[in-house]
Amino acid sequence: MPLFLPHFNLQKFNTLAVPAVADYFVAVHNDEELCEALAFARAKNLPHLLLGGGSNIVLRSDFPGLVIQLKSQGKELVAEDDNFVWLKVAAGENWHQLVEYTLANAFYGLENLSLIPGSVGAAPIQNIGAYGVEVKDFISELTALEIRSGVSVSFTNESCRFGYRDSVFKQSLKDQYVITSVTFRLAKVAAPNLSYPALRQALAAVNAPSPQAVSEAVIAIRQAKLPDPAAVPNVGSFFKNPIINATQLSGLAARYPGIVSYAVDEAHTKLAAAWLIDRAGWRGKGVGGAEVHAQQALVLTNPQRLYGDAVLALAEQIQQSVLAEFGVSLELEPRVYP
Ligand code: EPU
Repeated sequence: MPLFLPHFNLQKFNTLAVPAVADYFVAVHNDEELCEALAFARAKNLPHLLLGGGSNIVLRSDFPGLVIQLKSQGKELVAEDDNFVWLKVAAGENWHQLVEYTLANAFYGLENLSLIPGSVGAAPIQNIGAYGVEVKDFISELTALEIRSGVSVSFTNESCRFGYRDSVFKQSLKDQYVITSVTFRLAKVAAPNLSYPALRQALAAVNAPSPQAVSEAVIAIRQAKLPDPAAVPNVGSFFKNPIINATQLSGLAARYPGIVSYAVDEAHTKLAAAWLIDRAGWRGKGVGGAEVHAQQALVLTNPQRLYGDAVLALAEQIQQSVLAEFGVSLELEPRVYP
């Protein structure tokens, strides 16, 4: 039986450093302990919250229930052919350590996703992405435990219904499954993805950059723009980049010639939310103790380690101001509890 700790302060377990207190906390290392934790919550009639690295959640206030931290470890090479390997990884593994492990073993594809905070099991939920790559392109399948029945189920890539910062686990199956392992299909031959302009520029002087060089460039860009959560509490991007249609874009582009956008398909465009927030005058500003990061306006920080409420109040003011100025709604990117 895992150890259930009452009245537990979560400050060190969420990268926004919110000092929220959970009624109970438990760390689980395998499916059996996970089932015991879920049964404990059920028996006490408590809600539960699953925690990986705690790098994409906003704790609005104390959590009146059981927080379950997934700590399962393990990597297994489950198949291989001439071109690819299939690597099955436990949900509790640290994401960046996995990226380093794949590079050290010459398994390629994840290098653009270097230094993203968080755990392997959380990566598919929001389909983490950076510098032209999304994790969905490397997931062949995953296993998840159905909370209601305790039964372990496999999901193919297709059945995860991945989208931009989205999956079935944020939509119709929200809070119904716990991802317990992810199987990645990785390439044996390097094929660097330099589609992201800032990354291409950073590597312009390097001839045929290796995946290791790509990883190093991504790390350097991230370190320059994004605050280290260990020093300045944050959860990365606080909003998704909004997707708008061609009519909306032509109206905005006429009014704001410098607007930053990326084509999604023929009819849709993704706007850089950072640009909208910056242009609305928010970069470097603070309200009620929460702040907009001076190097990246999409990142909100919590330097005073306040409850999530304070950061959400700033987020709401930003949403209102971007809507008033540009007519564009910004959607929150992290998940909010309770
Ligand atoms: N920009 C501004 N002002 C700023 C920051 C950026 O005008 O303060 C402009 C830049 O000129 C740039 C554009 O906005 O042209 C986009 O900025 P950036 O390249 O930093 O990327 P982003 O669209 O803001 C997204 C992801 C990040 C990811 C980067 C790199 C989302 C919600 N965010 O940010 O992901 O690292 O691209 O691929 O899609 C995260 O999800 O937590 C995250 C950090």
